[in-house]
Amino acid sequence: MGSADHGSNESGMRPASGTTGVVERSHGVAKMAGKGLDIGTANILAAVRDQKGGIVVRCERNAFLDIQGDVHSRSMLTRLNVPYVVHENSLIVLGGSAFELANVFGRPTRRPMKDGLISSLEKEALPMMQMIIKKVLGEPAQPNEPCFFSVPAESVDKENNIVYHQGLFAGMLQKLGYNPTPMNEGHAVTFAELAAEDFTGIGISFGGGMVNVCVAYKTIPALTFSVARGGDWIDTNAANVLGLPSSKVTYIKESGMDIRSPKGREQEAIAIYYRNLISYTLQNIRNRLMMGRDLPNFSDPVEIVCAGGGSLIQGFIEVFREEVQKIKFPIAIKGVRLGKEPLNSVSQGCLVAAVSSME
Ligand SMILES: Nc1ncnc2c1ncn2[C@@H]1O[C@H](COP(=O)(O)OP(=O)(O)OP(=O)(O)O)[C@@H](O)[C@H]1O
Ligand SMILES: [Mg+2]
Repeated sequence: MGSADHGSNESGMRPASGTTGVVERSHGVAKMAGKGLDIGTANILAAVRDQKGGIVVRCERNAFLDIQGDVHSRSMLTRLNVPYVVHENSLIVLGGSAFELANVFGRPTRRPMKDGLISSLEKEALPMMQMIIKKVLGEPAQPNEPCFFSVPAESVDKENNIVYHQGLFAGMLQKLGYNPTPMNEGHAVTFAELAAEDFTGIGISFGGGMVNVCVAYKTIPALTFSVARGGDWIDTNAANVLGLPSSKVTYIKESGMDIRSPKGREQEAIAIYYRNLISYTLQNIRNRLMMGRDLPNFSDPVEIVCAGGGSLIQGFIEVFREEVQKIKFPIAIKGVRLGKEPLNSVSQGCLVAAVSSME
């Protein structure tokens, strides 16, 4: 219950100079070194290589529930077959299991991150995040195994403290036995998805807390920024106008609606905020490209790739294309496409970078 393995193949994995990979043998078992970790507001994902050189992505919700540690609660969790850990006299249910149990209790889950960064409202939630990260990453394949982890870029529309967030997770990964390197989230999208374009183009991650953008030129991030709006922003705003709890809006949004043809008042509100988020993101990209003094000269039109859970909704890429048509960009756009596995792109890009770093 809760976590999911997203099997994948090797097709997206082509770092700049080709990967040979590092294979370590321990107790007769081959272990592939180097891992990618996507630390997100909604989901935490680890991309690791299996012994055949393919990629396996493990995903867990970034959420938990704490329940009083009495005998009654313990037996209830055992009866419901819900895994838990004991932490300072409380029973902690992690990740996807916490979501399922929260529905049974009619109680919200606790979420350690907000708007792309560690939440100041959930200071004591860090050990829970460490447990989730440990669960998806597993033990290091070798001491100080390289682990690239995603960090958001600073936002154009909000003061936020990336430095603290980045340092916190670097320290946590070190404690878990890894050699951590932060990687910008949008940059990771370009590593996972733009191999065919020589890692040149625009990678966008539509997350729960933020949208992260990176303009890359031959693997180098020329421009990175975020907007402090994402899936949660859509849910909260639609919930406000509809007078519904935002968890209900999230449920409707993720249940298979199409933002090109919303049905009923609830879906209409979601579609309006979705289009607004896409348009707002594109306007910010245009503005930053206009300002960009250090931008490379793109001789050819550039591709835009969209990833992240927010891009999974039906009609997303069509609405995105419509909104691109409305904006006059200072550089020519070749095309717009979805990532191959949008939810996994960031973790896979981090893995590609980790493996490349060992060559
Ligand atoms: N099928 C779906 N349809 C619509 N939205 C979805 C779907 N699946 C997930 N989402 C939304 O995607 C968002 C989570 O995406 P993702 O896992 O990429 O975010 P994150 O990386 O955890 O967040 P961030 O990068 O902002 O810190 C949530 O807002 C969720 O509601
Ligand atoms: Mg993300």
